[in-house]
Amino acid sequence: MENVVVNVNGVIHVFSSLQREIEAPQAVVSVFDRSFLYGDSLYEVFRSHEGVFLQLDEHLERLYRSAALCRMRVSQDPGSLKAQIAKTFAEFQKGAQKGQQDAYCRLVLTRGVGRIGFGEECVLTPTQIIIIVQKVELPTEAQIEKGLHLQISKRIRNRPEALDPAMKSGNYLNSLLAYLEAAAENIDDKFDDALLCNGDGHITEGTTFNIFYVKRGILVTPPLDIGILEGTTRRAVLEVARQLSIPIREVRFPKERLYKADEVFATSTTKDIFPVTRLDQKKIGAGKPGEISLKLRKALQAALIESAKKMGRH
Ligand SMILES: Cc1ncc(COP(=O)(O)O)c(C=O)c1O
Repeated sequence: MENVVVNVNGVIHVFSSLQREIEAPQAVVSVFDRSFLYGDSLYEVFRSHEGVFLQLDEHLERLYRSAALCRMRVSQDPGSLKAQIAKTFAEFQKGAQKGQQDAYCRLVLTRGVGRIGFGEECVLTPTQIIIIVQKVELPTEAQIEKGLHLQISKRIRNRPEALDPAMKSGNYLNSLLAYLEAAAENIDDKFDDALLCNGDGHITEGTTFNIFYVKRGILVTPPLDIGILEGTTRRAVLEVARQLSIPIREVRFPKERLYKADEVFATSTTKDIFPVTRLDQKKIGAGKPGEISLKLRKALQAALIESAKKMGRH
């Protein structure tokens, strides 16, 4: 049985997954933490492969970019965050069974603890760090073969001027509600998740993933300035596509383009490339994972592992 390891401001707590719900109250944040009071926090999710976190620098760079977007001065430098991540991961590895040491890591950074009130003078502590490391759950081959069934949500994506999706904040209600609404649809072939449009009817991204489609060999994805999170996987997929000489377009498009696409796929740290085979109950292409999606998936995984190996050698 694998452990769940939680690091709260440098203090490590280890839980066996069986007793997680009972024991986890030992790992706590204050009721006066801004994350609890205002959703005033940021986070990152990354995973390890054979003992090395994939794209860790990219994730930490995005964390500091998010901090700049939400006027958060991070008390910890990247080196000390990396040291805390390594300490938490080492504890996880101690308890993990051989061959099951690949981990999911969630790093949460809150603006701090203090008095109720918005002003900076109310924040009385440095930014707080919580790190959760547990076994990673990656899609199985059978799930990839079946593909995702997505709903295009009626709920629109947050406008960048309101709450910029480029900032990976702890306030995920926009995505969470789109997900819950899709999951609650009473249909035979249940939706797995949802995609969101902006106010102009253009596709932006999924609740926790970026979106791509392929039409006549061209790879298309919404541009960053439409108001999306710049996925580390999105960036890696574009890089791999360039290496494979697959033409790329970053353009705005309505949902109808996805209905008529040859292939559609979602990307994220825990999905890599996950084919989408049904959208709003309509079949995409042949209703099974497309050739280019699978070719890119293989090349992406190879590229991620290669860069992890390089990191591991340092
Ligand atoms: C809204 C949103 N878009 C895209 C992504 C994909 O980002 P990444 O590829 O860095 O995991 C995520 C990841 O959580 C997300 O929450």
